[in-house]
Amino acid sequence: MRVAQVSKFGGPEVLVTADVAEPVVAPGEVLIDVAFVDTIFVETQVRNGWGGEFFPVELPYVTGSGVAGTVREVGAGVDPGWVGRRVASSDGFTGGSAERVVRAADTLTAVPDGLSPRDAAALVTDSITALGLIELTAVKPGERVLILGASGGMGTLAVQLAHARGARVVAVARGERKRALVRELGADATVDGADADWPERAREALGASGADVVLDGVGGAFGARALPLVADGGRLSLHGAPTGDFADIDAAEAERRGITVYGIGDMRFAPEEQQRLRAAAYEEAAAGHLRPVIGEVFPLERAAKAHAAIEARTLVGKVLLEP
Ligand SMILES: NC(=O)c1ccc[n+]([C@@H]2O[C@H](COP(=O)([O-])OP(=O)(O)OC[C@H]3O[C@@H](n4cnc5c(N)ncnc54)[C@H](OP(=O)(O)O)[C@@H]3O)[C@@H](O)[C@H]2O)c1
Repeated sequence: MRVAQVSKFGGPEVLVTADVAEPVVAPGEVLIDVAFVDTIFVETQVRNGWGGEFFPVELPYVTGSGVAGTVREVGAGVDPGWVGRRVASSDGFTGGSAERVVRAADTLTAVPDGLSPRDAAALVTDSITALGLIELTAVKPGERVLILGASGGMGTLAVQLAHARGARVVAVARGERKRALVRELGADATVDGADADWPERAREALGASGADVVLDGVGGAFGARALPLVADGGRLSLHGAPTGDFADIDAAEAERRGITVYGIGDMRFAPEEQQRLRAAAYEEAAAGHLRPVIGEVFPLERAAKAHAAIEARTLVGKVLLEP
């Protein structure tokens, strides 16, 4: 069976397809025929050798984790009713970029009628984080929410979810195409992240007292500039690091101003929580209330191109792989 695999850390070119033995189901597991594989930004960083303390991998490893497909076989102790059903699953952050995967049955989420396998794969991971973030920061009607990295896979969902809760959403995205997308998804105002004075533009859009909630999906020095934009007593989530690092903010200032700060550690949801969040997002998507944005689907053999496209930030929306 074909997989997309990394044998040494480096640029996109180290991600190549290989033939490996067919996976075999053990008790408590299922075998899934994979239709689509999700990709997320952090996978490109892990491939580069970054983030071992948060995302440890052992070489060689198969990239990706989130998949959508159909159950082909179940192991002992698993309800045979799963066979033939459309499912999604993620488990850790490796092993998914394959024609078939074996997964513990308790990682499965049924894909409801009305949701395509493509959309299920696009939502498999980002929906957990986006909905988890909105719940964690307890976004309420009428609150002002500032979202950095709003055009990304997770950001586009966070924009829709915050908007659906009646918040006033200010979205930071780079360039007119991405700004138009997040406006269409429910942002009340957008700010171009390429403008050096984006924090001033965001302040104008938010009003003098700033944002009740800031979701930083970008990190680094860029994300750190959001601290002054959080209203006193507000909530700030620093979960993003596509710039190469999570935002390093002045914790004493946050404390002095009564700001509750969340980090990447708060995004690690227990397995049953992940199931609840993903299933809720799938229902919303099947009902047409939540839309994943897919920029391009690459065949598994072109996984390296998919990673290059994510890093170039030229596509609008997510990148998927199709085995
Ligand atoms: N996906 C998840 O479930 C999840 C879970 C936990 C944490 N996170 C973290 O949340 C962040 C966003 O995740 P994502 O999956 O939504 O990623 P993504 O789809 O790649 O989106 C990231 C966005 O950040 C913006 N960005 C700004 N500066 C950037 C830079 N220097 N390099 C790359 N992008 C930059 C890009 O938007 P513009 O091009 O418009 O600037 C891009 O659309 C990541 O740091 C990820 O590790 C994600």
